[in-house]
Amino acid sequence: MKDMLVRLLELPSGTELEQKLLEKEKIVVRRAIAPEKHLVADWVLNEFGSYWKSEVEVAFSRQPVSCWIAQRGNDLLGFACYESTARNFFGPTGTLESERGKGIGKLLLLKSLESMREMGYGYAIIGGVGPAEFYEKAVGAKIIEGSEISIYQHLLRKP
Ligand SMILES: CC(C)(COP(=O)(O)OP(=O)(O)OC[C@H]1O[C@@H](n2cnc3c(N)ncnc32)[C@H](O)[C@@H]1OP(=O)(O)O)[C@@H](O)C(=O)NCCC(=O)NCCS
Repeated sequence: MKDMLVRLLELPSGTELEQKLLEKEKIVVRRAIAPEKHLVADWVLNEFGSYWKSEVEVAFSRQPVSCWIAQRGNDLLGFACYESTARNFFGPTGTLESERGKGIGKLLLLKSLESMREMGYGYAIIGGVGPAEFYEKAVGAKIIEGSEISIYQHLLRKP
């Protein structure tokens, strides 16, 4: 798995997509807040497993919380974190399988990258992708050649 690089200075606007999701799908995309940590972490554990749960918990240890979520009413539909495992890195992210293809993942990605731009970064790294086509299409991300050895090298596995 390789990393990808995204230029943050010319990100596409997410305003239209945000409005569409809200009006047509009643989906709210917003930054998560501390009291819902247990709910988001449990949901991520159920949908995506314990490694991503751990990364979400680190995102919730930051102030402001470096995790964006998508919800319809009381139902979580997706999440995206940044600066969880390494500074300047985006991820992990995921959309509920039944809600994919509606633009949720793209808006969560844009919100996270905008947050990183506001921190002062000119570029962001997407660690160990995954669906490279999605990132290339959504924000023009480019594969970083020679990045196979990632921040996840030597990751401990459950015996
Ligand atoms: C990758 C993921 C987050 C995308 O979420 P999503 O909500 O379905 O994405 P969107 O609906 O915003 O897709 C935006 C665009 O990317 C395209 N796209 C989405 N997933 C794609 C994929 N896996 N490969 C190629 N294109 C993809 C969509 O078709 C859409 O194209 P359009 O703008 O022409 O309509 C979701 O598929 C997922 O949760 N996957 C499992 C977890 C995962 O792999 N996370 C990333 C780890 S690096």
